[in-house]
Amino acid sequence: MQFVERIAVGKKIVQIHCLRELVYPFAPPPSPVESQTMKESLTPASIRELARDFERQYQPGRVRALMVAGSGLKLEVPGWHPTETISMADIMPFPMHHLEGHDHSLTLWRRDDETLLVMNGRFHLYQGYSPAEVVAPVRLAALLGAEVLLATNAAGALDSSIPPGSLVVVNDHINLLGSNPLVGAWAKEMGPQFPDMSEAYDPELRRLALRCATDAGFEVFEGIYVAVLGPSFETPAEVRMLAGMGGTVVGMSTVPEVLAAHHMGLKILVLSLASNPAAGLVDRPLTHQEVLESGREAADTMKRLLGSLVERIFCPGGSGTEK
Ligand code: HPA
Repeated sequence: MQFVERIAVGKKIVQIHCLRELVYPFAPPPSPVESQTMKESLTPASIRELARDFERQYQPGRVRALMVAGSGLKLEVPGWHPTETISMADIMPFPMHHLEGHDHSLTLWRRDDETLLVMNGRFHLYQGYSPAEVVAPVRLAALLGAEVLLATNAAGALDSSIPPGSLVVVNDHINLLGSNPLVGAWAKEMGPQFPDMSEAYDPELRRLALRCATDAGFEVFEGIYVAVLGPSFETPAEVRMLAGMGGTVVGMSTVPEVLAAHHMGLKILVLSLASNPAAGLVDRPLTHQEVLESGREAADTMKRLLGSLVERIFCPGGSGTEK
């Protein structure tokens, strides 16, 4: 038996005869916009519904902030009480991908009728999550009324004068992820279509963090976070390029969360723990273990820092959240 197929050759349609049916294994690649939106299980309407369900089930009262823990860091808030730890798998309408050091959970830390949402184990693009999935907890928190995003991360220092274990208060970013969580319907539905990014990192919170981090015992710097996709670490040539373009630290997270949070009007504070000198700045290979270890070593200092930051930002008369 012969099959007759019509195929396009340039602008011409050509009829060919073949012995078996042609199978076209490769669909044409989607455009960047399509590839960010077409496989989404999340929509602006579904995330609103998620927020309504969350409110009904957990009754969080006044949600003050979302805090996000970086690799190896476990955030604790002195003076507040962790009442529930919810697995993200139980609340998010998309499948989870697991990674050592990231358990994808949300803990409600309460004080009177106020709540801080603490996310341990963020979603990364390199794990296979879509941009909208990565920022779903941020949008959930914003819809619940959060005023502040306080995100921590582990990052590679692009400058050899920044030692491992020190803290970089982020004052700007360079997005080299190749994606943006506002693409598609999200921009218009959740905030302004073309949000200004000239002062995304709140100056008052940055000033406060610089002071509190020094008091907590960190060696502190201020600088620019460069976001790359990962999961491979950078090459030494890439590190030279990133430093040359003005970066202070490099990491594989946080920028999508910042974009979504700023878009929805949250004040933003990002603290990067310099977990390692970036590739090529020292003569040894980088490992994920080293990044996690550095987070564990900084845990107590980070706990002291968060305690004093939360106290100053969220206590009556504290700075930072009057909109
Ligand atoms: N590069 C990218 N991401 C990172 C690094 C790094 O050196 N360290 C921790 N996260």
